[in-house]
Parts: sequence; C-alpha cells; structure tokens
Amino acid sequence: MATDTPFDQQEFRKALGAFTTGVTVITGVGSDGAPVGVTANSFNSVSLDPPMVLWSLAKSSRSLTAFTQSQNFAVHILALDQDALSNRFAKSGADKFAGLNLEHGAGGVPLLTGCVARLQCRTAFQYEGGDHIIFVGEVIAMDRRDAPPLVFQAGRYAVATAKTAAQALTDDVQDEDASFSENFTGYLLARAHFQFYSQLRSHLQQHGLSDCEYFVLSVLVVRDGRSIANFNERFSYTGHQVTPQLVARLEVKGYVRTAGPAGQQLCYLSEAGRALTLRIIAAAKALEADMLGKLGEADAAALKNLLKQFILHTDPGLAHPWTA
Ligand SMILES: Cc1cc2nc3c(=O)[nH]c(=O)nc-3n(C[C@H](O)[C@H](O)[C@H](O)COP(=O)(O)O)c2cc1C
Repeated sequence: MATDTPFDQQEFRKALGAFTTGVTVITGVGSDGAPVGVTANSFNSVSLDPPMVLWSLAKSSRSLTAFTQSQNFAVHILALDQDALSNRFAKSGADKFAGLNLEHGAGGVPLLTGCVARLQCRTAFQYEGGDHIIFVGEVIAMDRRDAPPLVFQAGRYAVATAKTAAQALTDDVQDEDASFSENFTGYLLARAHFQFYSQLRSHLQQHGLSDCEYFVLSVLVVRDGRSIANFNERFSYTGHQVTPQLVARLEVKGYVRTAGPAGQQLCYLSEAGRALTLRIIAAAKALEADMLGKLGEADAAALKNLLKQFILHTDPGLAHPWTA
C-alpha cells in the first residue's frame, strides 16, 4: 500500500483507476431541446427489480444543467471499436453529435448506434455527491448485442479477456524454474504458431508445396511482380531464404512465371498459381475463423491486440507484405 494518510489526491485517482470499468456515453436533452452527451465510467447497476442504474456527473460539466432538467437519459455501453466516440464525448464544447447516425428514444433523447447495449432511463432521483451529482434512472427500455466492450483501466482504454481457459496451461506449474517451459513467452508463442500452422501445412502438402513456396505464392497474391530480393526483404525474419531454385521449382509446377533480364527477374502468379493460393488462403481463413470462434470475439480482439504489440516491440524494421 502506497499511503493511507495524509490523503493524497493523486493516489486516490490511481486507486480509483485500479477499478476497471466499461465506458459509457450518457445522452440527455435539455429544457431547450438541445441534446447533451458525456463520456462516463461512473455508471453502475443499482437494482434488478425495479431495474435501476446510476452514474455521476461533475458539477463543472457544461452539460450539468441540461442533465438535471432532463426527464430521461440514455446509457450507451460502448463497444471495443468505439474509443473515438468515447473521446468525442469526453471533450467539452463543439457539437458532439455532428455527423453521427442518431436515433431518438424516450423523451426525445438521442440514441447512438453501434454500442454493446443501450439503456433508456427515466430520471428517478438526483443526489448531491461532493463535486458530482449522482443520477439514478429507472430503465424503461433496452437493447443489446453480443460484441466485445470497450474497457477503461488505469486511465487507458483496454481490452477485456477471459482468464479461465488459459489458466489450465499453467495450473500444474509448481515453482518458478518449472515455469521456464510452461509459461515462457517464447514457448507459448512458438507452440501457438506451430500448432496453428501445422493444420494449414496439411493443405500445403496436398499440393506439394513447402512452407517457403507457399509464402512466395501468398505474397504474390497481395502484390504481383516481385523480385527475389523483395521476397527476402519480407521473409528474412523467418530464417528461411527464397532462392532462384525455389522460384524455378514453382515455375516448373506452373504456379509462377518470371519475366525480365537475368538477375533482375520479376515473379508473377500464373492463373493456376492464383487459383491454388486463393484456395489455400480460404482454408487458412476457415482455420482462423474456427480458432477465433473458440476464443470468442472479445478474446480474439485481445489476442490480436497483444500480438500486434509484440510484433511492434520486436520489429527489426521489416516491410510487411502489404506495404509497397
Ligand atoms: C473514460 C472516461 C470516463 C469518464 N467518466 C466521467 C464520469 O463518470 N463523470 C464525469 O463527470 N465525467 C467523466 N468523464 C469526463 C467527461 O466525459 C468530460 O469531462 C466531458 O468533457 C464532459 O463534457 P461537458 O463538459 O460537455 O458536459 C470521463 C471521461 C473519460 C474519457
């Protein structure tokens, strides 16, 4: 524990930030009919029967008067991809609703779209709460969809991921030394990669393709007409090398043709090569969909987010297949 006395504002904020929340945008309508909206993570459930929720608004908020006048408010629980919407409603001033796709709910309150859930409320009570006003609403209508929520943790947006399934892999780790095998990141990444890739490899083997040959074909699908040097710029991180012999093999198989002066030849996909590569990519996507389906949307988003961070942190500056 960092401190208990004297009371430290910054520590208090940090302690509150340790309480991970979702993110909502609350909308209402003032007595002049103008819509208002603020980003709020002070939202919480209060009662199931009758259904009631609460949130609190800083007295310094420009929208305070309108919300205290509003007979209704709507809580929008934001989806993972709505961080820009959260930022928009976290800024005072400017017309926060400009250009948004809006619907209208009870009491004419603007309703945002694309959220995980929307709770339309009748303002039931308002309480003084220090420098905030606490609004308690009775939920009179709601709608929701299955989508990963946006999370707010320690002052930053975050992604929620389930802990239970992954726990099974480390449960029998008894001591720190043993965790070298079971919990070592390099092992987990490699094992995940090889287990996933081995399913795809059976498709490659059916068509007599090596991993390296498939890499060449799949990179050509993204952009045709590449030199051997270009392949290797994109492939060096794997430790494999694309050689003139490998390209010649693909040419003999009828999947690739080359053109240009010797030493500066460019590789192009043949019709057969394109059709085959697209078939294998479709199989890869089906395997991916199957795996991500097992994880669920939120964990799939969390996994991709972490892998991208991992790639960025270890990137030696290599070009991606998608960059020109
Ligand atoms: C993730 C997040 C959560 C927030 N939660 C609250 C909250 O619960 N209550 C509040 O008064 N302000 C909260 N804010 C700040 C308001 O959204 C911000 O002050 C907003 O500009 C108020 O708008 P207004 O001045 O136009 O009324 C939050 C901001 C962010 C980014």
